[in-house]
Amino acid sequence: MTFIQSHYDYEGLSDFAAYVVSNQIKYKPTSLIGFATGSTPVGLYKRLVKRYDEGDISFDQLTTVNLDEYIGLPDGHEQSYSAFMQHHLFDHVNIRPESIHFPSADSEPSNFDLMIQQKGGIDLQILGLGTNGHIGFNEPGSSFDSLTRVVDLASSTIQDNARFFDHIDDVPTQAVTMGIKTIMNARKILLLASGASKADAVFSCLSGPETEDVPGSCLQSHPELTVLLDDEANKYYVDSMI
Ligand code: F6R
Repeated sequence: MTFIQSHYDYEGLSDFAAYVVSNQIKYKPTSLIGFATGSTPVGLYKRLVKRYDEGDISFDQLTTVNLDEYIGLPDGHEQSYSAFMQHHLFDHVNIRPESIHFPSADSEPSNFDLMIQQKGGIDLQILGLGTNGHIGFNEPGSSFDSLTRVVDLASSTIQDNARFFDHIDDVPTQAVTMGIKTIMNARKILLLASGASKADAVFSCLSGPETEDVPGSCLQSHPELTVLLDDEANKYYVDSMI
């Protein structure tokens, strides 16, 4: 079943996302949670840190995997996704460093899928949405059967992510990403989208045909999908249940 909820604004969306993720951590403290980077989940991570500070949740038994990582940035580069996660979440909570996992191109990328399987599978995967409908860095045309692998970034993604770098030429052109199948194997998925720039992608992912041209459209087939939008991202009024 899919549950779609529209919030007045980004703050409301982030509050509810923090409620969903905290409940998962409380319900199963040993959960394997898949995290996303980018600007969308920043409000969620801020709230998870606050809940941790207040003693509401603990990360000590949690295991985490991240969706993706750029290729070609020096270790510790501030725009690497591992640095992003440290900065916004991991540095501020009691997660054990050995419980944090990122896909890597240094070894066979699909070993990441084996590792996820061996750990019992992802309990909750958090996703943002690209303006071109990508999830993780599965760009349009990615196979719904894809596993973790090295990918070329679409030029629209490079353009979108240039805001985090001094110059567009500094944006990596490749990344390693969990595949669509890896993502779809998660028991629960929480998709977040905020802002008018996401409205078209939200609409085609949730109301259009399921097609590899729109990677996020695969989510329509997921048995336990929660979608949190703000009013701008849901300007075409996607139905609350599909
Ligand atoms: C990030 C990721 C991407 C982003 C997407 C939206 O780990 O996998 O799919 O979720 O590009 O990015 P923002 O939130 O910056 O709009």
